[in-house]
Amino acid sequence: MRDSVTRRPGRTLRIAGDRLLAAIRDLGAIGATADGGVTRLAFTDEDLRGRKLVHDLMVGAGLQTRIDSAANIIGYRPGQRQDLPVLMLGSHIDTVPNGGALDGAYGVLAAVEVARALDEHGTLLSHPLAVVAFNNEEGAFGTRGMWGAHAMVGALDETDLAAADDRGRPVADLLTEMGGDPGRLDQAVWAADEVAAYFELHIEQGPVLESRNVRIGVVEAITGRSTLDVTVRGKASHAGTTPMELRQDALVAAAQVILAVRDLAGRNGPVRVATVGSLSLAPNAWNVVPGIVTMQVDLRDVSESAMRQAAARLRGEILEIAMRTGTAIDVAGQNSVPAVSCDLGLRDVIAAASESLNLSHLTLPSGAGHDAQVIGRIAPIGMIFVPSRGGISHAPEEHSAGDDLIAGANVLLQSVLGYDERYAN
Ligand code: GLV
Ligand code: MN
Ligand code: MN
Repeated sequence: MRDSVTRRPGRTLRIAGDRLLAAIRDLGAIGATADGGVTRLAFTDEDLRGRKLVHDLMVGAGLQTRIDSAANIIGYRPGQRQDLPVLMLGSHIDTVPNGGALDGAYGVLAAVEVARALDEHGTLLSHPLAVVAFNNEEGAFGTRGMWGAHAMVGALDETDLAAADDRGRPVADLLTEMGGDPGRLDQAVWAADEVAAYFELHIEQGPVLESRNVRIGVVEAITGRSTLDVTVRGKASHAGTTPMELRQDALVAAAQVILAVRDLAGRNGPVRVATVGSLSLAPNAWNVVPGIVTMQVDLRDVSESAMRQAAARLRGEILEIAMRTGTAIDVAGQNSVPAVSCDLGLRDVIAAASESLNLSHLTLPSGAGHDAQVIGRIAPIGMIFVPSRGGISHAPEEHSAGDDLIAGANVLLQSVLGYDERYAN
């Protein structure tokens, strides 16, 4: 940090747009796929390389860095008032398989740029600032999503640590490889009075802002999510010699489960959206009737009771499918993240920041999950969205215009300054 510091930079401070876009390109090159996507799953070599890049950028921004025991990367900047709780910014840098370069990474890199802008202009906030790259938001290899954020709010226990990923690797080992310390997970926990507020900047991942031609989204609430692990056990047997009526085909049963999941959403279903996005079968050979299928079900709604109702209805239908198909079907491992409202005061700060930059803004809900909704258990949260081309994300076609990415980062910067001014007393 510079020696001479000024208290208030005014409303003219801006992030370095070209540098932000270059950082997004550099991080997006790690794990880049042939069709323009990015595969940088948590707990992989690509993740480690991405984490190193982000760590180095944090150091370059004058942040004091550390990796906590849950393998979150934290960059810290003291405030003028060390008695105040920390103003936290962050998102994640892991991706889904063949996802985009912006989901998560944009929010982390923009937050680092915000810290760097403050550093370069010698601006000391009243609040201490922390920039966090949360570990494993996407739930790589079937693990619990928002892992690092859950650790920070003390929502993980021995079961989460004892879990293995879908390759059979203990999560505790994966954590150690990322620089975490599974034996001291409690040290990653933040108390509610340690975090003043949390802001997360993210691409919208949906079509609303683009279709309305609005530059900035002020998020009002983040959808809840419930994940179920379903295992179908049939009997593997010869595809040529086993008569159709004697089969216990796990995949045929799984297909019926998938349709039942689809029907949980829509006109007569209790939830907003329901998806089976992950499925594996064994022995997975063309000449063997499938013996075992495992899949993950993702249910989302703002209402907890709707998700509970959907899970109960699915369990009932699964019993019938198991009877019809001669299979045994288990439903286990239900993890849910409740819906969370964004703080009205922070929404106001974001709206004011957008207006100060002459950017149109709109209030909207988030259908995607975010680290913010977990941090919302210990602090007020605010989320800023920028438009996504065609509303596409979790796919190589994910794209947002450079001008929008820069505008969003400036809204984050002005929100930080606005928050600090409004709440530092
Ligand atoms: C998180 O990326 C989600 O699946 O919404
Ligand atoms: Mn995502
Ligand atoms: Mn994300």
